[in-house]
Amino acid sequence: MKFFIDTANLDDIKKAYKIGVLSGVTTNPSLVAKEGVKFEDRIEEILKAVPEVESVSAEVTPDAETAEDMIAQADELIKINGGDKNITIKLPMTLAGLEACRYLTKKGVKTNVTLIFTVNQALLAARAGATYVSPFLGRLDDISEDGVLLVAKIAELFRVHNLDTQIIAASVRHPDHVTRVAMAGAHIATVPFSVIAQLVKHPLTDQGIEKFAADWKNATK
Ligand code: E4P
Repeated sequence: MKFFIDTANLDDIKKAYKIGVLSGVTTNPSLVAKEGVKFEDRIEEILKAVPEVESVSAEVTPDAETAEDMIAQADELIKINGGDKNITIKLPMTLAGLEACRYLTKKGVKTNVTLIFTVNQALLAARAGATYVSPFLGRLDDISEDGVLLVAKIAELFRVHNLDTQIIAASVRHPDHVTRVAMAGAHIATVPFSVIAQLVKHPLTDQGIEKFAADWKNATK
């Protein structure tokens, strides 16, 4: 399973890129709004900051309601940073989003169909040619459903039907989500930097580092 970072914060993206585990970036309108920056400018900054990834998701804005609106926005987004091949158009799971997905896929543009909460939604997005689907596990857990189970079911369905759409486990809240979606067959987990930092840590690692340092100091004084 690969790691994407789920943020529009440039510092967090650069920190994650530096440690060499990053395969992509996902953003959404809420994450961009939180940064208080111009959408297209931030997407360009992100594309420039992470040249060696496979995908940077830029979501069509909420005022794009029809497929035509979404395609018009996508046409502008794909020009950013000189037509960067990593740009991925993130589309909502709606009839219009699926129509735009099919159109953009035919044009050779990468797509990420987002706000997936059922297996049927994932199947439809895959059949519309989505490069990625994003099931939101944390938001399902929030309403007492099982987000990891959804990822497992989608992974099984894609395997049985030989669908090459990749599953991005999204709305990831903690390290246990990461382990469980990896085992459930997600191709990618998109996680905030805080979760990446948690994945690195273990109290025994910290204790071990302290003990090595103390023993080294004693032996070399
Ligand atoms: C994924 O692409 C979304 O940006 C994200 O994971 C949503 O997560 P949230 O439920 O924490 O807002």
